[in-house]
Amino acid sequence: MDNKQKLFIDESRRIAKVIRDASEIAIFTHIDADGITSGSIAYQVALRLGIRAEINFLKKLDDAAVETIRSRKDCLIWMNDLGSGYISRFSGLKMVIADHHEPEIENPILTENGRTRLAESSICHLNAHLFGIEGSTEISSSTTSYFIARSVDNRNKDLSAIALVGAIGDLQDSRFGKLTGMNRLVLEDALSEGCVSVIRDTKFYGKETRPLSKLLEYSVDPQIPGVSSDPGAASRLLESLGIDYRVQGREKTWRETDIDDRRKIVSFIVQKMISEGIPAEQINSIVGETYLIRDPRAEEDDRMPSDAKEFATLINACGRYEKYDTGLNLCLGRRGEVLDSALSLLDEHRRNVANTIRMVKLEGLGQMSTLQYFHTTDRAPDSIVGTIAGILMKSKDVNEAKVVVGFAYSEGKVKVSCRGNTELVGIGLNLAEAVRIAAESVGGIGGGHSIAAGATIDVGQEQNFLNSLDRQIAQQLRAESAAPISANSSSPQEPKQ
Ligand code: C5P
Ligand code: C5P
Repeated sequence: MDNKQKLFIDESRRIAKVIRDASEIAIFTHIDADGITSGSIAYQVALRLGIRAEINFLKKLDDAAVETIRSRKDCLIWMNDLGSGYISRFSGLKMVIADHHEPEIENPILTENGRTRLAESSICHLNAHLFGIEGSTEISSSTTSYFIARSVDNRNKDLSAIALVGAIGDLQDSRFGKLTGMNRLVLEDALSEGCVSVIRDTKFYGKETRPLSKLLEYSVDPQIPGVSSDPGAASRLLESLGIDYRVQGREKTWRETDIDDRRKIVSFIVQKMISEGIPAEQINSIVGETYLIRDPRAEEDDRMPSDAKEFATLINACGRYEKYDTGLNLCLGRRGEVLDSALSLLDEHRRNVANTIRMVKLEGLGQMSTLQYFHTTDRAPDSIVGTIAGILMKSKDVNEAKVVVGFAYSEGKVKVSCRGNTELVGIGLNLAEAVRIAAESVGGIGGGHSIAAGATIDVGQEQNFLNSLDRQIAQQLRAESAAPISANSSSPQEPKQ
């Protein structure tokens, strides 16, 4: 553990005392997998302490949400996965903020023994950025909340399993192909509690829930040349490799496929990628650490995916379709009927994502010098625009040197989701800042991480927002190319653990 991490954990201990002393807690959290897992950790902590608690889910922090939060000034407010960007709106409240988004910089801060603190003494702010720790790769909101939970009571270490699901849901392992930094400390706890196993396997999504040919056809990260996005190609490949991929009249999943057959598939894909001249770094990313979750609190149910990525997608689907309690209950270990509803939401989610991607590809993306954009208007649920932007950014159908921006109408406004990639961040992209400035320039609000950010703006302001964002990104990339060569190189260096 390095000094920054020690200071972070010291701060979590100070916050744990505030939580233990509370008589009532109002929990607020975001609606994605990281938010729902974080909220469930806070809720479980309160239940175990015997403190009266309620949990509220927020799609975004708009004026109405701030008003709701402020109306709970009678009790301790525990915010998860939201809040760091807007602390000045909470002055005077008794509050814990456990977040990993870039904090509001204008907010007055004090520096004390190398630690950065808020001047506002009634707000306890646990955010890795304040300690010089990267919030989009080294720590999620769920792992932030987990550190508080563990400081409240060491027995809360069993919550490490669900904390990891949040980190994986936020793609925190994508940069190095495995969990690193503070997330890795949580992984160590989970390993010692026996609630996770780490196996080297392919990084394909859907190893437990997709038919084998669909797993290959839908793979965007990594892309399989000649197979991804080509219906029929995967089945032809499996047949040409002589793989028996059917069982009881249906296709096997990856997990059900014989180990030698899995090896055959991987070595074919690797050969194919080499012959297509794909960079070694990308080829290596096919296989890596994958995490199988065994939550000791959970009811037995064979249908529950144990792969952390699939677990997270299930929670995400609950959030995207506003079934927050279903997501929360899954995180608390309920299965049975709760799982029935979650699985049908997942089906609906997959259908919506597939149809929307098809629609966007058919229409094509608008092009500007540093970005490419699409607008789903009201033809898809607004909650999936970020998922679509993320998938497109990784697909071979878009220009990987440009940011992807997605718009969707949402409750009389426009929801904006922007996604970059590691390469662009390596050459200076900071979407959190660019999106915040562009949103504010058109009277909206925005923020997030350097690689992924979002905003809400008024209908009709899309083009002005794009013009401003294009300028901001161009400036960031120019500034970096003009800077002397530093440790911030474009190929990611694996951090020390
Ligand atoms: O609200 P929030 O932080 O949870 O949103 C995180 C989103 O950012 C993820 O859903 C993911 O799409 C994106 N992300 C990413 N790459 C990372 C970290 C996050 O694309 N390294
Ligand atoms: O909504 P989307 O998934 O695109 O959000 C990407 C990231 O930007 C998330 O981490 C989200 O919490 C953050 N965000 C923000 N402020 C907004 C909208 C999104 O910090 N107004």
